[in-house]
Amino acid sequence: MKVSFIFALLGTSVLAANEFQATSLLTAADTKFGPAIEGVGVDKAGNIYATNFDSELTKAGKVTSSQNQLFQAPDAEAYVNGIRFNINSAGAEEAYIVDAALHRVYRLTDRQGADGAFANSGIFCQDEKMLQPNDLAIAPSSGRIFLSGMNYTSDTVVGNGDLWTCDGSGTATRLGQFHRTNGIEVSPDEKTLYLSESENKGGAVVANRILAFDLDAAAGTVSNQRVFADFGKLDNTEATDIDGMRTDVSGNLYVTRNGIGKVAVFAPSGELTSYISLASIDFVASIDFGGADGKKLHMVGKCKDDDTKGCVDVYNGDVAGRAFSDLQKSTTPPPPPPATGCGKTGRARK
Ligand SMILES: *[C@@H]1O[C@H](CO)[C@@H](O)[C@H](O)[C@H]1NC(C)=O
Repeated sequence: MKVSFIFALLGTSVLAANEFQATSLLTAADTKFGPAIEGVGVDKAGNIYATNFDSELTKAGKVTSSQNQLFQAPDAEAYVNGIRFNINSAGAEEAYIVDAALHRVYRLTDRQGADGAFANSGIFCQDEKMLQPNDLAIAPSSGRIFLSGMNYTSDTVVGNGDLWTCDGSGTATRLGQFHRTNGIEVSPDEKTLYLSESENKGGAVVANRILAFDLDAAAGTVSNQRVFADFGKLDNTEATDIDGMRTDVSGNLYVTRNGIGKVAVFAPSGELTSYISLASIDFVASIDFGGADGKKLHMVGKCKDDDTKGCVDVYNGDVAGRAFSDLQKSTTPPPPPPATGCGKTGRARK
């Protein structure tokens, strides 16, 4: 009696979080993406993008509503792995794409229409000392980007993960070294930076936790490092890697569990509130909210039933994603007032 009562209690604590079911959007039969699909990013219109388009590590493409190419890195050795959109200080939509092999971030500018391709791209920031970068997050108030990377070794040491920032002029600065780091995200109020940290021992994955820092988004500094969540203590999934992480406008943090086909959802307090179970993916690599209302969580990874293809699942959330919402806030500044003695008609003719 007593033993079963204790088990019932344990069972209750493990199953306390609600479990929701995602549905399949792009299957192995429909997809133009390869198994290394990663780096989900949303644009202002709510379109979703990802990497490994055409199964090429050098290419990123649009996932919805049609599949076509967004970007191809100029070097054949490139490994593009993360995408984020931003509205720059002039009100123009731009995109940042990280290249894990060449230790750099590209910036795409001069978009041809709200839903169109970018006319120009160039290297925005780079540093040979970056381990990768693997993924990125943006603090839109300052346009600062934050980058995570890792060196995957059988016995992890501090220094196998790193955190970098690039300021608006593209200057890269290392903010810290950690066990291997991967998922990275900024809270909607830009006061917290989340960073995943994982450890291997003797070739096995033995720890997966999420670190939180106080963020000064304007200065590009982090402080007050603490453990926000530790999967070994929460649900015994310490051997399952954290990959992409995203916040919604309420500050909830969505965390990929790469290997068990789930996304764990945390309240801003750190409480694990629910899981989303994927339909067509076990190795969920990256996520973001998109769609016209920004509430549709898109999740990508190698297809469960065909490991040569990249699949996409969706889940309809209650609130919009942080990245989507930030892109709506940014408005084009009004044009400068006409110069003295020069009316509207005169200006238009110039
Ligand atoms: C990655 O880790 C290996 C094994 O510890 C080490 O030899 C190598 O120098 C590391 N690479 C970098 C870029 O830190």
